[in-house]
Amino acid sequence: MISLRKATINELPIIQSLAKEIWPATFGQILSQEQIEYMLDMMYSLTSLEKQLTELNHVFIIASEADIDVGYLSYEINSKNKSETKIHKIYLLPTTQGKGYGKQLIGHAKKVAIENFQTDITLNVNKFNKAYEFYLKQGFEFVKNENIDIGNGFLMEDAVLSLSIS
Ligand SMILES: CC(C)(COP(=O)(O)OP(=O)(O)OC[C@H]1O[C@@H](n2cnc3c(N)ncnc32)[C@H](O)[C@@H]1OP(=O)(O)O)[C@@H](O)C(=O)NCCC(=O)NCCS
Repeated sequence: MISLRKATINELPIIQSLAKEIWPATFGQILSQEQIEYMLDMMYSLTSLEKQLTELNHVFIIASEADIDVGYLSYEINSKNKSETKIHKIYLLPTTQGKGYGKQLIGHAKKVAIENFQTDITLNVNKFNKAYEFYLKQGFEFVKNENIDIGNGFLMEDAVLSLSIS
């Protein structure tokens, strides 16, 4: 079991340090080292994380196992001013993957979505990430492919997935 807590602004360095450990393991076979570093800087610099928390209304949840922080989830309620919750981040340390914790984090996002009268949960996943199958197993459905130019000649080759809340 994992315990979940809402991260405060002072805890954003925990998320940054978990990302630095999880990202190379997740994307090492999919993206170049340069792109991983570029994306980590873009999405996980403290300035960027603080902006996500304080201006973009992203809620950050830290997951801990036996009092050790092992992963995080971030989501945004009423994303794009629609009744949709967007999951922006869901990451667990490699040693804690495959233990049902990801399912638990999705369950938390679902609970929040229901409490906030949301119609759907949406997310983007790299098309080549094996997390894709995990999401399908949780009931998400393919919506469309989305190539996002993130600058410096780098591209995110994503699929958009959605889970209907009913
Ligand atoms: C993706 C991630 C959050 C999933 O969490 P997890 O704890 O490893 O997955 P769970 O143990 O909760 O798995 C839940 C179910 O999905 C299945 N599943 C998990 N990964 C799977 C995969 N790659 N292919 C098929 N099924 C998978 C499990 O078998 C399990 O099935 P069950 O309910 O029948 O037992 C986690 O593996 C992770 O952090 N991966 C690296 C980071 C990442 O890619 N994040 C997503 C970025 S978009």
